[in-house]
Amino acid sequence: LAGKTAIVTSGPTHEPIDPVRYIANRSSGRQGHAIAAALARLGAKVTLVSGPVTIPAPTDVTTVHVERAEEMRDAVIGRLPADIAVFVAAVADWRVATASDQKIKKQPGDAPPALMLTENPDILKTVGHHEKRPTLVIGFAAETQDVENNGRAKLERKGADMIIANDVSPETGVMGGLRNQVKLISKDGVEAWPDMGKDEVADRLAAMIAEKLA
Ligand code: CTP
Repeated sequence: LAGKTAIVTSGPTHEPIDPVRYIANRSSGRQGHAIAAALARLGAKVTLVSGPVTIPAPTDVTTVHVERAEEMRDAVIGRLPADIAVFVAAVADWRVATASDQKIKKQPGDAPPALMLTENPDILKTVGHHEKRPTLVIGFAAETQDVENNGRAKLERKGADMIIANDVSPETGVMGGLRNQVKLISKDGVEAWPDMGKDEVADRLAAMIAEKLA
């Protein structure tokens, strides 16, 4: 992948409720960071746009740290064009419509505050239909049911070349864990990979990307 540029999103996003509270999810960033590192090992110039994670940023990769989905979108769009984009981040689908700029306080006798949510931008979908669309656009699909059909629908809706679907039901241990079992969904059909470490998923995926762009 020498001479090729790649953007990878990874980790969760944090959507503020007030200065001290946020909405988040269980993503660790392990799969996204591993993919960024694997692409770099094959010679690509990689920008990793990462939400808040506790794992270290890979070496030989430019890492941009963001918190919110809107920041992640701006960081990604601002770095186009690129040859490859892989969207691994578990972006929060919703944010609090009007986050409070002061800590929300309990008042005696008050009802709990109601959180009004609004939809976040879909970063993959924006890039999949962008005038500077990368040659290869790959998304993930975090599902807890009907993995293949939901993955196929996302391929179409988001304008991706491939969707990597994984079952994130709690019993699989995928979200936050070290292993993953994925299904690669493209217009050519579905390829199921056996359960393996997230690093191995990343290496195989990077090799496949290199083959497609050769
Ligand atoms: N994604 C994104 N921006 C969003 C939501 C999702 O870029 N606001 C990307 C993810 O990084 C992933 C893909 O879209 O590559 C699918 O994410 P997923 O959470 O599975 O799908 P959603 O579009 O959120 O659909 P749903 O929650 O209804 O399953």
